[in-house]
Amino acid sequence: MSVELAGRFTLGDKTVNRMGYGAMQLAGRGVFGPPDNKQEAIDVLKAAIAAGVNHIDTSDFYGPHITNQLIQEALNPYPVELALVTKIGAKRDDKGGWNPAFSKAELTQAVHDNLNNLGVEQLDVVNLRVMFDVHDPAEGEISEYFNVLVALQKEGLIRHLGLSNVTRAQVEEAQKLAPIVCVQNHYNLVQRKDDALIDHLAKSGIAYVPFFPLGGFSPLQSDILETVSKELNATPKQVALAWLLNRSPNILLIPGTSSVAHLQQNIAAAALNIPESLMGKLNTIATA
Ligand SMILES: NC(=O)c1ccc[n+]([C@@H]2O[C@H](COP(=O)([O-])OP(=O)(O)OC[C@H]3O[C@@H](n4cnc5c(N)ncnc54)[C@H](OP(=O)(O)O)[C@@H]3O)[C@@H](O)[C@H]2O)c1
Repeated sequence: MSVELAGRFTLGDKTVNRMGYGAMQLAGRGVFGPPDNKQEAIDVLKAAIAAGVNHIDTSDFYGPHITNQLIQEALNPYPVELALVTKIGAKRDDKGGWNPAFSKAELTQAVHDNLNNLGVEQLDVVNLRVMFDVHDPAEGEISEYFNVLVALQKEGLIRHLGLSNVTRAQVEEAQKLAPIVCVQNHYNLVQRKDDALIDHLAKSGIAYVPFFPLGGFSPLQSDILETVSKELNATPKQVALAWLLNRSPNILLIPGTSSVAHLQQNIAAAALNIPESLMGKLNTIATA
């Protein structure tokens, strides 16, 4: 199965295929409210598992609640090998805005909401999603907030901890309090501000999980990517994903889609080999 061609990586105490799935696109437009086509959302989740995906990224603030409820409806009872990774630290307002939610009460409630809406007794991995700047990592101390997760882990509600939207200083600050298994930041073929952080995490066996691997709400566009894709007889999105797999062995992919056809195209990227010469061409696209 082509998912396995992406290779495997140990995330906490589960070994997952490096080609995973990000569930954010399953909620309604703007990641708010229910999907236009609920059956397609359920089908995407079932198709991902059927194809061998065993790493799904989610959050209870997608919808809110709706994405986790869809995951539970489609997949519970869950395959034992599935790693469900969630994130906390934000809440939605009534217009769909994204706001920080970092008090002890909010973080604790978010863990309980994830447990209830996913229908599990323990969360495999919880990322603290830092919100000093909503869109980019920004410096600032995180110990007070991360310690709330450490306490919930000690209570047995969380198995492993991770971080999202963080700087290297924040990674090191958290590691003084508890081990982390993954970092989830914005990174792709074009946006490469985290190149050094990826290599640093690889040395300690920590997964780096790029969000917006396909550009997210601003799809990747590049003439070089188009040209290389034609040479490889693949789509630009497949090449963007295969480039990430090639970039570093600790990169785990969670491309997001609400479509079974797109899911299958994305998974097929695991079978794509990019020769060094074309990696070189793709490496010239980066803006950061
Ligand atoms: N930690 C964070 O702050 C954070 C932030 C954002 C996202 N995330 C996580 O990262 C995951 C990935 O990010 P993302 O979903 O925002 O962005 P993405 O994976 O870069 O791109 C998703 C977009 O690409 C489209 N797409 C996907 N596959 C396609 C294909 N084969 N052909 C054409 N269009 C395709 C999707 O539309 P269709 O639905 O039409 O396929 C959607 O509009 C999310 O699902 C979420 O789990 C985390």
